[in-house]
Amino acid sequence: MSRLNNKHIILAISGGIAAYKSAELVRLLIKSGAQVQVVMTSGATEFITPLTLQALSGNPVHQHLLNPQAEAGMGHIQLARWADLLIIAPASANVMARIAQGQADDLLTTLCLATGAPVLLAPAMNQAMWRDQATQKNLQTLLARGIQVHGPAEGEQACGDIGAGRMLEPSQLLTALAAQFNQGLLAGKTVLITAGPTREAIDPVRYISNHSSGKMGYALALAARDQGAKVILISGPTQLEQPEDVIFVAVESAQDMLKASLKVGSTADYFIATAAVADYRPAQASEQKLKKHNPAHGLTLELLQNPDILATMSKQYPGAIHVGFAAETQDLIPHAQDKLKRKGAHMIIANDVSNTSIGFNSDNNQVSLVTSGGVEDLPLLSKQQLARQLIVAIKKISHKASIT
Ligand SMILES: Cc1cc2nc3c(=O)[nH]c(=O)nc-3n(C[C@H](O)[C@H](O)[C@H](O)COP(=O)(O)O)c2cc1C
Repeated sequence: MSRLNNKHIILAISGGIAAYKSAELVRLLIKSGAQVQVVMTSGATEFITPLTLQALSGNPVHQHLLNPQAEAGMGHIQLARWADLLIIAPASANVMARIAQGQADDLLTTLCLATGAPVLLAPAMNQAMWRDQATQKNLQTLLARGIQVHGPAEGEQACGDIGAGRMLEPSQLLTALAAQFNQGLLAGKTVLITAGPTREAIDPVRYISNHSSGKMGYALALAARDQGAKVILISGPTQLEQPEDVIFVAVESAQDMLKASLKVGSTADYFIATAAVADYRPAQASEQKLKKHNPAHGLTLELLQNPDILATMSKQYPGAIHVGFAAETQDLIPHAQDKLKRKGAHMIIANDVSNTSIGFNSDNNQVSLVTSGGVEDLPLLSKQQLARQLIVAIKKISHKASIT
């Protein structure tokens, strides 16, 4: 069975001569069993009719963002969520520039921002447009964001020029799309991720915990899975749905989380500690529910320090790449640099949790990547977008550490 069988593919077409080739790509995708929704920019409709693509895909073509009727059905957010993969073919110089700038001025660019699915581009343009500094700079921005760029190929162009700028053939793009479902940056690798809060029992009904939602760790699990990794997700209690195609281990306390991590640690190429592990646990969890006694007396809990999971894992399994998160409310970078050394990690992803629009329960996050090589600040991103970029960044460290 084709790897594309039942996969949800958005094919977004922008305004270039190669748009006619996208009709063939739709045909090949449908033949492979994929479900295809076509999105067109208004430029694209000048080159090929929506009717052709509707007939080939079996679905109405999505052309407008500000369309009340479309929003009543499969609106832009539903479409963004529906997609397993978004491919823009052809990607014009104009659309590359707009995506690089993070614009959301039409349906195609808005979907790029809104989707959690991997985004692939198949650029097609005149060779001078491709070589132009502006396009090359946009290309670098897109690659750094984890967007995959396939092509362009070299050869004779519609305008008569010869050079790089031809869109890859539909059959080559089909191969690239199919490869997404069992290959990627982390193909053949095992990624172990901890996520969510831990709960430290006080008695059978009470515990010490924190506000971690687990969203970042779950998003990383999906991004690593989408890049071909075998993912083991060790999670404290969260409200999130268990991700598909991920080995899921549910734990409660920090000690459980460490035990589960050590158990499978030898198989991991990457260990990513996103869990907000409670630093302390009650020295003794009462077996019976604690009762209120004299109101004049409070309750004093003796707390013990929990094991440091990241530091323990980096010591125990030095062959893996170790990545941690530092949620801080002050002196973010110095604290993260200190953590990097103390825990023997390759990277600390630092975020300021005093800002309520990012971090813990938010859907967005803004982080700095702290390594021994320096500090890189990333912009505010959705946790899905950030997860994809982090996977690219983490893969880069493994090159430096010569793990291939
Ligand atoms: C005949 C013709 C062919 C074009 N071919 C391309 C092309 O192959 N690649 C490209 O980037 N732009 C091409 N353009 C320019 C784009 O159509 C133009 O930049 C447009 O604004 C793209 O809009 P869109 O990216 O929103 O669809 C062409 C324009 C014309 C008139």
